[in-house]
Order: sequence, then structure tokens, then C-alpha cells
Amino acid sequence: MTIKAVVKGVGHYLPDRVVENAEFEATLDTSDAWIRARTGIERRHFAAEGETTSDMGTKAAQAALDMAGLSANDVDAIILATSTADLTFPSAATMVQQGLGMTRGFAFDVQAVCAGFVYALTTAKSMIESGQAHRILVIGAETFSKLMDWSDRGTCVLFGDGAGALLLQGEQDTDRGILAAHLASDGRYKDILFVDGGVSLQTTGHLRMQGKEVFRHAVEKLSDTARSTLADAGLTPDDVSWIVPHQANRRILEGVSKRLKVPMDQFIVTVQDHGNTSAASIPLALARGHADGRFAPGDVLVIGAIGGGLAWGTAVLRW
Ligand code: UT7
Repeated sequence: MTIKAVVKGVGHYLPDRVVENAEFEATLDTSDAWIRARTGIERRHFAAEGETTSDMGTKAAQAALDMAGLSANDVDAIILATSTADLTFPSAATMVQQGLGMTRGFAFDVQAVCAGFVYALTTAKSMIESGQAHRILVIGAETFSKLMDWSDRGTCVLFGDGAGALLLQGEQDTDRGILAAHLASDGRYKDILFVDGGVSLQTTGHLRMQGKEVFRHAVEKLSDTARSTLADAGLTPDDVSWIVPHQANRRILEGVSKRLKVPMDQFIVTVQDHGNTSAASIPLALARGHADGRFAPGDVLVIGAIGGGLAWGTAVLRW
């Protein structure tokens, strides 16, 4: 008897404020044309004053519960991936627990920056397969607009805010659910993408990135781990229905498409509308793919992300 973690609900939330590329032209030496051509980004959402990561995560999680026809106390755990928790502690996950009215189970945050959702999903998979939890809400929620240096055109035009959530449930003897997952990190690259603040420096800090270096690692590591995780599941890139990748730059996705030999029309691409929302980008893309009716039962989805650390990972699931 084997248990698999099967997706029962998907939800998302995007803040109301939409910022088009052209808005940056007023304050920076940049252009809509440059941002579109070099990244594929056209617009992004920014949280309102006072709107927090846990506020957005709560809304996304409630939508996932609604789709699954469940209430918060039917859930055993919340695992929330974020690098932009409301406060240093408690975790944003416990704030979501309170926001949902959930009075049982346990909740904690996972911090692996843009790869956070894959890390959270992999943790949930293990807990469900081991019987430690039956139902887990896995959330990616971020307010990266709070980490931007608005004078740095190389970073501040790239990121956005939002949240997405999956409700996973353990099911026995099914061919659906998460089939394989792989996590990796390499701290030798910690200085190519980081925030120059934190508790030890008594500041929030700003995001700093050597974009070209990160780009190179992203194309290589996303395609290599996709291939090896598919192999762990007994599959090859030919078996893939959809790639649902972290959304940082359309050109990264085109590079992965080329290396994996999976055409771009099998990629869910939302970077044009969301920018890079770090740990929220994959669940937001899953919510978009689901809402558009693109995923059919039995489809093989490859979820992959890379970010600060460097930390990266891939999960293969059957929808
Ligand atoms: O989520 C975590 C993972 N993050 C990523 O995957 C991000 C990966 N990196 C990237 O997406 C790209 O490297 C960037 C979009 C960040 C930059 O694109 P690029 O093609 O690698 O540009 P570059 O950094 O090599 O810069 C080329 C030129 C530079 O000017 P000079 O030195 O050639 O005069 C930059 O100053 O483009 C300039 N530039 C800009 N120009 C107009 C950089 N940002 C901008 C901008 N508008 N916003």
C-alpha cells in the first residue's frame, strides 16, 4: 500500500495594483521595450500599503480550500514558502492558520527564496507519504516589492507580489500525485543573489543580483534537474504534458525548452503578467493553467525553480 500526495485544490491571490513597465520610465533609465525584450515581463502586481504576505497567503489558501470543498479544520498542516514573512517571527504560516480560522494541526515557513515552493511541496510530499499528515496546504506567498532598491534598474523592474496555494491530500494506490522530487543547493553561489539586510544587520535590506550569472545557472540547473527527476519517476521529457516553471525571465524558459527539447507551447508562462514573484510564481502559474483548463487528469507536470542560495529543485506530478 503506497500513499501519494494528490492535488485537490488550487488557489491564488494577486493584489489589485497593476504596474505596467512604462511606469518605471518616469524614474529610471529604462524602457518598456528593454524590459519586454530582455525578460518578457510586461506588468506586475504590487501589494497595497499594509497588505502583507500572510494576508495574500490566506486568500490563496482559502481559494484552494474552496475548490477542494474543505474547511480549514479539515487540514493537518500549512507549509508556507516565503522570504518576505510579515515579521521576523512568528511564521507567516501561523498567521495564515489564524486567518483561516484553523485551530488544529501545525504550520511553519520554508525559506528557499525562489525555489521555496518546490522545497515546501517536497516537504509536504514526505509528510503525506509517511502518514504524518493527511492533508497539507502548501502556499507560496511573497511581497518582493518591499525588498527593491528603486534606483537599481537591473532588479527593481523584475519582481512582483502575489500568492498561490495547493491543497494536497494523501491517496492510496493511485497513479496520480507527486511522483518524484529532487532538491539541491550550493552555498558557494550565495553572493550572486541575496538581500543585503537582515536581523543581524538590523535592517530589511535590498535585493542584489548578478543577473547574468544567475541566468546561466538557471538554464543549466532547471533543465538538468527536470531530466533527472523525470528519470526518477521512470519518465523522459517526451512524457511531459506541461512544464510549470518558476517565472523569472522568458529567455530562461526558452533556454530550458531548447535543452529539454520540450516546445515552448508546453510551458505555462505567466511572467508577462506577474513578473518574478519568487516562491509564489509556481502556484500562481499552476492556478493560471488550471483556470485556463489546460491540465487534464493524467497529465504529467514538471515543476522547477531556482533562486538565492543558490537553491533549486524539481517535482514531477501527475495531475
Ligand atoms: O528568481 C531568481 C532567479 N533570477 C533570475 O533568474 C534572473 C536571471 N537574470 C536575468 O533575468 C537577466 O540577467 C536580467 C534580466 C537581470 C538582465 O538581463 P541581461 O540581458 O543579462 O542584461 P545585463 O545584466 O547583461 O545588462 C545588459 C545591459 C547593461 O548595460 P551596459 O552595461 O551594457 O551598458 C545594463 O546596465 O542592460 C542594462 N540594463 C538595463 N537597461 C535598461 C539592466 N537593466 C536594465 C533596465 N533597463 N531595466
